[in-house]
Amino acid sequence: MDDSKIGLFSRVFHTRPQLLASAPGRINIIGEHTDYNNGYVLPAAIHLRTRFLATPRPDSRVRIWADDFQQEETFDLDAISPSEKCRWANYIKGIFWILKQEGYRLSGVDAMVWGEVPLESGLSSSAALEVSVIKGLSSLFGIDLPGVILAKLAQKAENDFVGVQCGLMDQFISVFGKKDNALFLDCETLDFTLFPLHLEKAGLGILVYDTKVRRELASSEYNLRRQEAARALGVLRGKGVRSYKEATVERLENAREEMGEIPYRRARHVITENERVRKAVEAIRRDDFCGLGDLLFRSHQSLRDDYDVSCPELDLLHDVGKGFAGCLGARLVGAGFGGSGIALLEKQTMEGFRKRMQAEAAERGFPRPEFYEVAIGEGASVSRLD
Ligand code: GLA
Repeated sequence: MDDSKIGLFSRVFHTRPQLLASAPGRINIIGEHTDYNNGYVLPAAIHLRTRFLATPRPDSRVRIWADDFQQEETFDLDAISPSEKCRWANYIKGIFWILKQEGYRLSGVDAMVWGEVPLESGLSSSAALEVSVIKGLSSLFGIDLPGVILAKLAQKAENDFVGVQCGLMDQFISVFGKKDNALFLDCETLDFTLFPLHLEKAGLGILVYDTKVRRELASSEYNLRRQEAARALGVLRGKGVRSYKEATVERLENAREEMGEIPYRRARHVITENERVRKAVEAIRRDDFCGLGDLLFRSHQSLRDDYDVSCPELDLLHDVGKGFAGCLGARLVGAGFGGSGIALLEKQTMEGFRKRMQAEAAERGFPRPEFYEVAIGEGASVSRLD
């Protein structure tokens, strides 16, 4: 970390920070819109992180300096309410709020946050912020929480305080990610396995393509998908299928008429995506990156045609990827409706791919995209500075 941030903290608050916590953003290799459907996901933490410097105060005031926005937000622990104009602050307030709800004793805090995870791009800057704060506060106040609980509380803060009905994947990977590893998570049992992803050895890299498209409707559409998928599962349950993990496309066919076309397509995505995640795990274990890439393309097609969460800018990534010699696979990542996609590329073709995408986007009058080559990074960490 850059020492100048500690100097800045001291100038803003006239005291030294006691600890530094940090947490990463993520990509999801495969397993999209399966987490809240109690299915499988395969995310990986990225090298881009959010950082939180903090020290306790003797009173109940919380002062937060967000260095990237050059803004300060102040609130009292006894009256925590969401802010209309300072949206970044709600992710932090939500963590204080949930810890208090859970009955933990906190004091006020002076804190500073900043980070590298691009905002609203589908790389989960919100989970990185929540997890860095909960990791920092639990350490600062001697609250001993296992990683699974940290992730669940961070998710609950986002669901109940910020008001976004996300699943658990983003917070979970931000807590448990490991350098150069992918994490296979069963979102029903929360059993997970980390296993190495030998991209470097295979001469491959992951390029993030940020469409720069931000959809106002994204969160209401996301909630609607959750409802549709739940409705479809309700019909399947009536036919003796306990969960999406147990369902098959054949059993779904038997319920098609009863559930109607839209829930049927949502369910087909969830069932086939779970299957693709399992196949992707096998492909990675065999270092079969062509096989993995093919699953990425197929995941995109299912998200586009069955789950209806793509957009022309994201489809462009898939379409260009399919016809590009060094691209093994490409798909939208995260919730969709804009945001980012990932492409699995032979390293030496990455620059060419980036240029090609830029030109194709310009030709179609799309917003000017941004690109990040991401490395697979470590999960959340905390260190005392005194
Ligand atoms: C967002 C949510 C996650 C997950 C993805 C879609 O990133 O925060 O919980 O549902 O969308 O896979």
